[in-house]
Amino acid sequence: MILPIYLYGQPALRKPTEMVEEGSIDVKQFIADMQETLTAAEGCGLAAPQVGKSLRLFLVDGSELAEDYPDCADFRQVFINPEIIELSEETSAYSEGCLSLPGISENVVRPRTITIRYQDADFQWHTDTYTDFKARIVLHEYDHLEAHVFTDRISPLRKSLVRGKLLNLAKGKTVARYRYKKN
Ligand code: NI
Repeated sequence: MILPIYLYGQPALRKPTEMVEEGSIDVKQFIADMQETLTAAEGCGLAAPQVGKSLRLFLVDGSELAEDYPDCADFRQVFINPEIIELSEETSAYSEGCLSLPGISENVVRPRTITIRYQDADFQWHTDTYTDFKARIVLHEYDHLEAHVFTDRISPLRKSLVRGKLLNLAKGKTVARYRYKKN
């Protein structure tokens, strides 16, 4: 089932998230719904708060980016209860967008390499290291679990320039090309 995506201004995006306990929700069904929602919206990542669930779970899907980033083509994965273990000092800046902030893209500086510990859909623990675009997607989604969106991380000048767009989103004046939650 395609779930409505919560846009900037919805309180769900700013709520603390809770650990996913095995057996507490139908995780397989929730992941299937999130994947369907992400594919329909043609995004490269979706976190539970973006569909109104305050849970520590997100999906990445690099297949939309395969043309520009061939190494992301089969980067399709779920991260449950993730914890960032290490961030590189080396950073990179790149333009980001977000399904919760349609019509906005801004440069965000992030660590270039990360190590993350997480559970998969069977609640098995993994520790993996990602670099460049994969690291960026994971950090962007991880931010959603910490109640952040990418515009929290842009410069005050750039933020003042997108203020009008953010206000329109918060007021429900923005139309997205995918299913989203109406105010
Ligand atoms: Ni996002």
